[in-house]
Amino acid sequence: MSNNNPFDFQGRHVFVAGGSSGINFGIAQAFAESGARISLISRSADKVDAAVATLQATGADAFGQAADVRQPEAVAAALAAAAGRFGPIDVLVSGAAGNFLARVLDMSPNAFKTVVDIDLMGSFHVARLAHEHLRQPGACVIQISASQAFTPTPYQAHVCAAKAGVDMLTQVLAMEWGPQGIRVNSIVPGPIADTEGLKRLAPTADTLVQMAQRVPLRRLGKVSDIALMAQWLASDWGSFITGAIIPVDGGLSLSGPRDFSAAAEATARGAR
Ligand code: COA
Ligand code: NAP
Repeated sequence: MSNNNPFDFQGRHVFVAGGSSGINFGIAQAFAESGARISLISRSADKVDAAVATLQATGADAFGQAADVRQPEAVAAALAAAAGRFGPIDVLVSGAAGNFLARVLDMSPNAFKTVVDIDLMGSFHVARLAHEHLRQPGACVIQISASQAFTPTPYQAHVCAAKAGVDMLTQVLAMEWGPQGIRVNSIVPGPIADTEGLKRLAPTADTLVQMAQRVPLRRLGKVSDIALMAQWLASDWGSFITGAIIPVDGGLSLSGPRDFSAAAEATARGAR
């Protein structure tokens, strides 16, 4: 990184788990625009190929592989391939996740387990298996959490449990890996416009307006709001920050649990 521009990531290797769409892809794009080489994984080979093609079309070095974060062997293979291509990982972004609105009594054990497996176990696999490929010292791990981690939220028991675990994993890893010069932090996005995650929690125009009205800053977030925080954390400006859980949410997490009953009813009325 140059001294005069902390957001110059020329030649740095950024690996993004769940990086083929939405917020995570936006983070990948931002790092690519700042000179980084990007590797990414997600389940769908088509989505991975499209994301890689989009990055390459801007002149970026990009590599992708289809891998499910619930399958440690696939994650390990993708990490090894990425490190073989672009060298040690400077920035690891871990954001693969799944969500749907359901009350506990409407969730099968497998429904609850599925989200815990993707969000929490997936983050565990990605971090644990990436460790041998991380640049030491200097690597920055960024986990993408959610305010459900610290706000008990009806219809979101699976996400609350999983993301609370993700944030605790962040803090434990910050302590275990700090001596090796690896920083580990969580970003907690607020409701981000035009993302799959927000569509699932605010599926109608009305619920979207209600969501924005609950945000103290009275707007939805942009993918770039999250990407800028990721770059800031990965830059020299973030070099003394580890174990932090950082909301980038316009203050929404201050306003307590959200009421998802209207959103859940609207989702139930539409095709699931
Ligand atoms: N309400 C209750 N249960 C639900 C549900 C809903 N809306 N949607 C899925 N489930 C249940 C399924 O019935 C299944 O349980 P069962 O086997 O007991 O029937 C279980 O969850 C797993 O569903 P399945 O579709 O097999 O899982 P998957 O691994 O193919 O997909 C999901 C994972 C369900 C999380 C899917 O929504 C997904 O792929 N999400 C990724 C995109 C996303 O959520 N983006 C936003 C990120 S915040
Ligand atoms: P998204 O576009 O659906 O992003 C999720 C990504 O994860 C996709 O690329 C998806 O691609 C991948 N993925 C899902 N399951 C996977 C698995 N098992 N293995 C590997 N990859 C998997 O949704 P998003 O809204 O941008 O969410 C991104 C992150 O932000 C998530 O961690 C979410 O919890 C968090 N967040 C979002 C909001 C919001 O307002 N959107 C708010 C708070 C937190 P495939 O389908 O190809 O697997």
